[in-house]
Amino acid sequence: MPTVHVNLDKRNYPIVVGNEILKDIGDSLQNFEAISKIAIVINPLVASFHLKSVKESLLNKGFKVSVIIVPDGEKFKDYRQLLNIHRKLVQEKLDRRSLIIALGGGVIGDISGFAAATFMRGIRYVQIPTSLLAQVDSSIGGKTGINFLKIKNLIGSFYQPKLVYTDVSLLRTLSQEELHNGLAEVIKYGVIKDAGFFQYLEKNIEKILDLDLSCLEKVVFQCAEIKAKIVQEDEKEKGIRTILNYGHTLGHCFETVSKFSYKHGQAVSLGMVYAGKIAQKIGLLNREDAKKIERLLQKAHLPVSPLKKFNPQEILAILEMDKKRSAGKQKFVLPKKIGQVIIKDDIPIELLKEVLLNAKENNIFS
Ligand SMILES: NC(=O)c1ccc[n+]([C@@H]2O[C@H](COP(=O)([O-])OP(=O)(O)OC[C@H]3O[C@@H](n4cnc5c(N)ncnc54)[C@H](O)[C@@H]3O)[C@@H](O)[C@H]2O)c1
Ligand SMILES: [Zn+2]
Repeated sequence: MPTVHVNLDKRNYPIVVGNEILKDIGDSLQNFEAISKIAIVINPLVASFHLKSVKESLLNKGFKVSVIIVPDGEKFKDYRQLLNIHRKLVQEKLDRRSLIIALGGGVIGDISGFAAATFMRGIRYVQIPTSLLAQVDSSIGGKTGINFLKIKNLIGSFYQPKLVYTDVSLLRTLSQEELHNGLAEVIKYGVIKDAGFFQYLEKNIEKILDLDLSCLEKVVFQCAEIKAKIVQEDEKEKGIRTILNYGHTLGHCFETVSKFSYKHGQAVSLGMVYAGKIAQKIGLLNREDAKKIERLLQKAHLPVSPLKKFNPQEILAILEMDKKRSAGKQKFVLPKKIGQVIIKDDIPIELLKEVLLNAKENNIFS
């Protein structure tokens, strides 16, 4: 099976990408050192589609299995549900030789990974990502955690899985909106690292939207490869890993001003468009590449201009708050051309204002 290897000293792990491979998960886990018990963490929606197949595959290979249900939604990525998972792990008598399977989107992946990191000082876990976003992004790289005091991912740790097991056929049950959401991150990889991949996306976007699984297999594999390489170089985000935040600086602001009515991917799409505007303004990016990025986002049913009226000042205030929180300078990841970005921490506030206010003049904010 096509496999990407994440090489991190003693914490190496494979990312397996395939089509219709879910039923074989039991085989893959047989290669692991003795597993006393497996807990599958899942939400009710994903359970209704995909739990049976995983459970059967594990039981067929003689594993002992428990299931822990977490309600669906970002608001449940919290300490209550974390404790709920821990409580169930105790009740079901999991021990240091047990293993957690995170079977779901990014929410389940993040909270289950953190539950694994903190239970008995760390037990093994496996990611089976089921949303496109989770397959190309959140399942890879070992960032785990929960939200706290309305701050996203405030409590968490870097804790790598033992295996990421990605079956693109699971995307068949994903809603269109969630598919588009994940495509924002897919397009991000093309812009930050790989012009050839960007071109492939331009050519095949219709197929991707029609859920052509062999095409999606290539896309997910390519994204996994790009992210794995970046994580390998800079696991704890002290340098190059920052480029994965392309579109996320302003994206986060759009998420906040929309009071989270924007999906993450929609906000990141806007963030990428505005990063392009800033990059053009400082003479970094040419108009043609900026347009290409916008066109591809649009084809992927992602917004390239805000859907609602925003006050640019509000966005600047959120940026300022983020800057304080990160105790440093506001970093922008800006495209130089498709396939290459640079990190700038000296974008003058006046320039930002101008880009955001221009947007207003262009009627983008109304
Ligand atoms: N750890 C990281 O590096 C990292 C990176 C990016 C995002 N994240 C986190 O990931 C989360 C977002 O992930 P997400 O977009 O997957 O959200 P999500 O987990 O909420 O999933 C989105 C929706 O799709 C549903 N779903 C998932 N797979 C499905 C399937 N196969 N069929 C039908 N429905 C399915 C879910 O039930 C949910 O309703 C956020 O909490 C974000 O902070 C983490
Ligand atoms: Zn993101």
